[in-house]
Amino acid sequence: MNIVVIGAGYVGLVTGCCLAEAGNRVICVDSDLKKIKALEAGHLPFYEPQLGDLLTIQRDSGRLIFEVSIEDAVEKADIVFLAVGTPANEDGSADLKNLLNCAKDLARVITSDCIVVVKSTVPVGTGEYIEKILNQSSERADRSDRKIRIRIASNPEFLAEGRAVQDFRHPDRIVIGAADPQCFAILEELYEPFDYDGQRLIFMDVRSAEFAKYACNSMLAARISMINELSGLAGALGAEISSICQVLEADPRIGGSYLHPGVGYGGSCLPKDLSALIYSAKRMGEPADMLRSIQRVNLSQRDRLLDAIREHFMGDLSSKKIAVWGLSFKPGTNDVRAAPSLTLIRDLVEDGACVHAYDPVAQQTANAALAETEVGFGKAAMDVCKDADALVVMTEWDEFKRPDFNVIKRQMRGNMIFDSRALYRPETLRKYGLKHYRLGQKRVIESELEEETKAGRPFHARSTRETSKEKHP
Ligand code: UDX
Repeated sequence: MNIVVIGAGYVGLVTGCCLAEAGNRVICVDSDLKKIKALEAGHLPFYEPQLGDLLTIQRDSGRLIFEVSIEDAVEKADIVFLAVGTPANEDGSADLKNLLNCAKDLARVITSDCIVVVKSTVPVGTGEYIEKILNQSSERADRSDRKIRIRIASNPEFLAEGRAVQDFRHPDRIVIGAADPQCFAILEELYEPFDYDGQRLIFMDVRSAEFAKYACNSMLAARISMINELSGLAGALGAEISSICQVLEADPRIGGSYLHPGVGYGGSCLPKDLSALIYSAKRMGEPADMLRSIQRVNLSQRDRLLDAIREHFMGDLSSKKIAVWGLSFKPGTNDVRAAPSLTLIRDLVEDGACVHAYDPVAQQTANAALAETEVGFGKAAMDVCKDADALVVMTEWDEFKRPDFNVIKRQMRGNMIFDSRALYRPETLRKYGLKHYRLGQKRVIESELEEETKAGRPFHARSTRETSKEKHP
């Protein structure tokens, strides 16, 4: 088929490359000429495993080409994918400016029947709105004596950064929302090579498909906030969250994936999609209490980590040197959008700390995002530990999982490791003379336990966050 993909970001490029690999002729369109030139030269605008090789192979095969002009691209298109970004506005709503501008441009230049598929994550009802824009162009009516029919479909993308190509090639599900049988049939044919067991395709109406994406990301975010809350509680009550995770995992109804406690979710999708759904709920007069709590818990995880660091230095971070390992919001990407590391670094610097950070691939993107903040960057993980009073591990890159603790100990001035991704065991660090802090770590204070036991009360460990306040009754 002749495919046009508008928007050469994560979703658009992966879609374009993988559909070309499946034998289609694909034109990727982006208004950024510099980006298009770089893609033609085989350079990716971001870090994504496997995608670079796929891009060059498909470009060299002639099945994948790049364009700046929508008009030149859509002339023979059977299907046009809209894959432009829909970032969050300040009020939490999705910014549809770019998407709607693309729809207007398309409306002017489409000259034959085709299907326009919205791949961007959009608020429910956007597809219908775009369909109206597309079928209202007076300019196009002048150029054609036959009425052109542009059909709209929703086909949300569920790929995760860092494994985007793999996710596209072997999808868990392919959601197709449309209103007429011909649209379903054409998209079913397009996706046939990816429907490896005949069970991947799920058909529905456009609104449901749009909502499905928000529902999935809300559910994922809920799991993370729930495990983070349980982890905090477990630690406060003197229980060990990793043991509890084993028990949760053993229940097939719960399962073990997406259950790692940490510093909260970041990235370009979960935070913005939650905000957009909460915004839609507000407009509809729905309370969305759960969604709001998920978001609150997520942000408070970051505060917990900052509080623990402040407490360790007794509230005085001035002239403390803090090493930070990991800047991207997760491993496998150089994306720092809504990355907890950036919030932490800004707060530490504001408190007077001197921060030196290292990330295997995200230093450039982080440097740009932290333009207003004074941060040093190192060439290697161990470099930034030199004379550090504490080390904070923010991203679970493989190279941070088994570091040489002897070298860390020798390099550092202090001995504290704040392990926000629960990578290390406290007893291992102890052997090297290093101290360990983990979010939700087990906190049993023996003297308190004795006191409570003598008083015949069940034990409640004292919370770090309440050390200066009254103890729980
Ligand atoms: C997510 C969805 O997984 C994907 O389906 C959707 O299309 C886009 O949003 P992505 O943002 O790339 O993908 O990353 P993901 O791997 O889902 O991680 C999101 C965040 O959750 C990261 O900050 C990660 O560190 C955090 N996370 C994930 C946890 O804290 N614990 C977990 O158990 C899993």
